[in-house]
Amino acid sequence: MKLNKKAAVILGGVLSITIASGAALRTPPEPAHYTNLKVLPKDISSKELQSIMTDDFEDALGVSCGFCHANNANGHGLDFASDAKAEKEITRVMMRMTLGISKKYLKIKHPRIGNSMMVVSCYTCHKGAPFSDDVAK
Ligand code: HEC
Ligand code: HEC
Repeated sequence: MKLNKKAAVILGGVLSITIASGAALRTPPEPAHYTNLKVLPKDISSKELQSIMTDDFEDALGVSCGFCHANNANGHGLDFASDAKAEKEITRVMMRMTLGISKKYLKIKHPRIGNSMMVVSCYTCHKGAPFSDDVAK
């Protein structure tokens, strides 16, 4: 009985250590690490940003990331923070316009890009096309 009690204490200790280290390993909410956001909130979560880029932008325009984002200098992958491509800046104008229509004419108090409650979205006008003849998909 005495031994069992001791074993229980040890086991309890091991368990609480395991639980504590488990908590430490759990990834904390990702800190904002985007460096060049001018329209989207600077503290946007990576989950929300990714969903805007894919569900709102890619799908509405029928393009992929490289339509707006320039290549990395070393030729590998894309430099998402770079403003080298005009399409990215046009998109910022489009984002402001879309928010403006919602706010000014549709009287939505706090419109947000990516919010499914938005009455007007990129898709409303674009319907899967960028409106350009020379699309570099
Ligand atoms: C239609 C244009 C467009 C497409 C397509 C697009 N993006 Fe973006 N992306 C933007 C714009 C515009 C911004 C900056 C938004 C702002 O200024 O608030 C941005 C910002 C970003 C950022 C933040 C960069 C930083 O550090 O400031 C990341 C990451 C990103 N995009 C990833 C992607 C990925 C991944 C894809 C493809 C799945 C994608 N984007 C597709 C227009 C686009
Ligand atoms: C009210 C309608 C409307 C909405 C909403 C709208 N757009 Fe546009 N967009 C247009 C029109 C019209 C053009 C073509 C302008 C031109 O040819 O000069 C255009 C052009 C563009 C272009 C340039 C395409 C190219 O080939 O260079 C991009 C990129 C773009 N829009 C992205 C977006 C994104 C992203 C959204 C959502 C945030 C959006 N637009 C919302 C009407 C709209």
